Order: sequence, then structure tokens, then C-alpha cells
Amino acid sequence: MNIIAPSILSADFGNLRQQINMIERAGAQWAHIDVMDGHFVPNITIGPVVISSVRQGSGLFFDTHLMIQRPERYIKAFSEAGADLISVHLEAETDVDRDIELILSEGKKAAIAINPNTGFSRAREYMERHGDDISLLLIMSVFPGFGGQAFIEGVLPKIREAREYINSTGLKTQIEVDGGINLENIGSVLNAGADVIVAGSAIFKSPDPEDTIKRMLSANNFKS
Ligand code: DX5
Ligand code: ZN
Repeated sequence: MNIIAPSILSADFGNLRQQINMIERAGAQWAHIDVMDGHFVPNITIGPVVISSVRQGSGLFFDTHLMIQRPERYIKAFSEAGADLISVHLEAETDVDRDIELILSEGKKAAIAINPNTGFSRAREYMERHGDDISLLLIMSVFPGFGGQAFIEGVLPKIREAREYINSTGLKTQIEVDGGINLENIGSVLNAGADVIVAGSAIFKSPDPEDTIKRMLSANNFKS
């Protein structure tokens, strides 16, 4: 079964706890939490206080995507607020090696994220250095900042490249793909080698979000 991580950026923030309960009821295993600082991306979203406010009531795995500059300043705060995994962008103003160690020292899973115009080779440098300490590689299929954008088909070869590398090395690192994924293209993303699917608007803006999640959970790879 695929892992579906609904991105709460597209949820109704006026009913956030109810929305998180809904995705859990529908069978989603993760909640994808998009943190934006208005500097790394031209948008501002949420901070640790929102995570801690919904943490107690949820058994979901909180997949925390930091789209912020200098994330080292907030890794402890997001960890204490209840993040389970924290991803940092290779394109951010930061020392990613140090950030990975910081996240691990907080007892959380560490992940690295790359934008559509960043080659897999840059991520491979970190994966060679850190091995399975990097639990997940987040491959962006939109440029970060907003939900509701169109999937960039050009990232499919990069997903395949990452899948081949992980399979050839025996690493346990999971591949997460994030941005513009819907019921029409999820098969090709899975077929390229993704383990975790992030979807925001395709779920929360659909007529029946619970049904959309269930259909994504049972989506099968198909030869694209
Ligand atoms: C964009 C975020 C994505 C986004 C996904 O910067 O990282 O997680 O919210 O939303 P959709 O699925 O609508 O593209
Ligand atoms: Zn995201």
C-alpha cells in the first residue's frame, strides 16, 4: 500500500483539527506540514505552535517540510512541537550536513529536499555521506511556495534516477514526491519509484476528500 501524505496547506485552517482527523479516518498514514518563511519561498504559513496544537489529537506521522532559510534555528522547536520527520532544502541558506545531525540529535527522522531544477546528483552527495541517516529524499514536482500548481512532468526521470540509485546501494531511504499530484498522474509517479505521495489540493479541494485519499491509497503503478 502506498503512503499518502496529505498536505495540510490546502486544508481548511479554520477546522484544522477536524481536517487532520478526517485524513486519518480516510487511512492516510502521514500529514505533510508545509512550513514557509517568506524568504526561501514567497509565502508564509505556519510555525511550531500550530504543530503542537494538533499533535496531541493525532496518531499521524507528522512529515514536516521546512521551506525556510537557516532551518537550524528551528529544528529543536519543530521537534519539541511534535514533528516526526523534518526535511531541509539543499537550496536553502544552511549547512545541510549540520542540519541532518541536529535533526537526528532530536530523535527525529532526517530528510533532504530538492527543487525541480536541482539535479539528483546534488542529493546523492549527501546520501553517500549520510547513508540511511537520511530517511527520506523529498523530490519537489512543483517549485515550492504554493499548493494547487501543475505537476512538472520533467521530474519523472529524476525520480527514476533516485530509485535506481537507492536500489543499487541497498539504502532504505524513502522517496517522497511533492506537488501537483492527483488521481490522474499518481500512477506514473509511483511507477517512477516514489514511496510517499504528497497531495494537497487534489485531496482537500476534491468533492470527497476521504474518497480521494482511499483511491490514492489503492492507486497502482502502471506503465506510463
Ligand atoms: C508546495 C508544498 C506542497 C504543496 C502540495 O510548496 O511543498 O506540499 O502544498 O500541494 P498540491 O498537491 O496542491 O500541489
Ligand atoms: Zn511540501
